[in-house]
Amino acid sequence: MFMRVYFTSPPAEQRLAGARQENADWLKRFQQLRSLSLTGQEWLAEATRLREAILRQLQWEERELYPALDKFLLSSRPTRDMFYEHEGIRRYLPEMEEALASPERDRRWERFSLNLIHLLEHHIEHEERGLYPVYERLLEGGKGAS
Ligand SMILES: [Fe+2]
Repeated sequence: MFMRVYFTSPPAEQRLAGARQENADWLKRFQQLRSLSLTGQEWLAEATRLREAILRQLQWEERELYPALDKFLLSSRPTRDMFYEHEGIRRYLPEMEEALASPERDRRWERFSLNLIHLLEHHIEHEERGLYPVYERLLEGGKGAS
């Protein structure tokens, strides 16, 4: 029996590859922002773009990826853990601008880094090793591969 799952554009495989690429870019972009700030260059527009990109991806995962995985795994436990990490990311993300702009920015940046960047690194590793591969299997199954 052939089953095909239709997704809104872009196709899910492409969206997932894009997500992996974005995850890798985020960590670099935080370091670039920090350098811009330390050298007195404009960083606000890039900080806004980065925050929006992160929030967009969390939303995509929660709306499209997680519900499909819950059905496939017959449990919402794995995605619930990821969702709690998303909540942490959302909580700490607004501290980015203060961490870049504050006169005490070394201390603020260190705290931001411990709170948000470490959480993000942990979360990305968690998802890329855990849920993303499961989603890839699900997509393979959806193509009717034997
Ligand atoms: Fe996530």
